[in-house]
Amino acid sequence: MTPQDALKQQVARAAIKYIKGESIIGVGTGSTVNFFIDMLAEHKHEIDGAISSSIVSTERLQKIGIPVLELSEVSSIGVYVDGADEVTPHKKMLKGGGGALTREKIVAAVSKKFVCIVDDSKCVDVMGKFPLPVEVIPMARSYVARELVKLGGQPEWRENFVTDNSGEILDVHNLDISNPVALERTINQIAGVITVGLFAERDADVVLIGKGTEVITL
Ligand code: 5RP
Repeated sequence: MTPQDALKQQVARAAIKYIKGESIIGVGTGSTVNFFIDMLAEHKHEIDGAISSSIVSTERLQKIGIPVLELSEVSSIGVYVDGADEVTPHKKMLKGGGGALTREKIVAAVSKKFVCIVDDSKCVDVMGKFPLPVEVIPMARSYVARELVKLGGQPEWRENFVTDNSGEILDVHNLDISNPVALERTINQIAGVITVGLFAERDADVVLIGKGTEVITL
């Protein structure tokens, strides 16, 4: 296991305590969350089921015997555990490196508590070094790209990638994300945008950061 994977496993373990007393949990997507899912195997009798943010996480959950429910079957989710590509000290996140941003944003919206799990390489003061994923309706791809250029970004089409919602992704380089809430709103307004990977309006409630041998809680 690489040192970074060891940190991911460490924060995944620390997130387990947040599922205590919850019947339905939300589960994100990505390599950090995969460690969390693997650890859930030992706790599956403590929950009634999970709401998953992607097909890949659904398959991993089902493989270990955790029932995956439809979001429409539940009125709320106690806790949602997910990773991030970047996270600020204000708990704002940039997500979507794995392309699951739309379902992640929906699950986050329905959840009472968002627990973000990251290794310390994801911690930044200002987001934007990692290109910002924007999921679009395919016919709007070029139009949205031109609008993103007007905002100062350099969009790059994630070729040969189709999301779980049949959308496409533009990865936007060099954006100024000094005001993430405002930028999230602006990009959301562009016709054809399904979701922007800024999780600023609905940010994390808790951030667990794996650093050295410790887990730091924000
Ligand atoms: C997927 C995501 C992931 O949370 C993000 O990409 C982090 O993934 P990893 O834990 O593999 O670094 O937003 O859409």
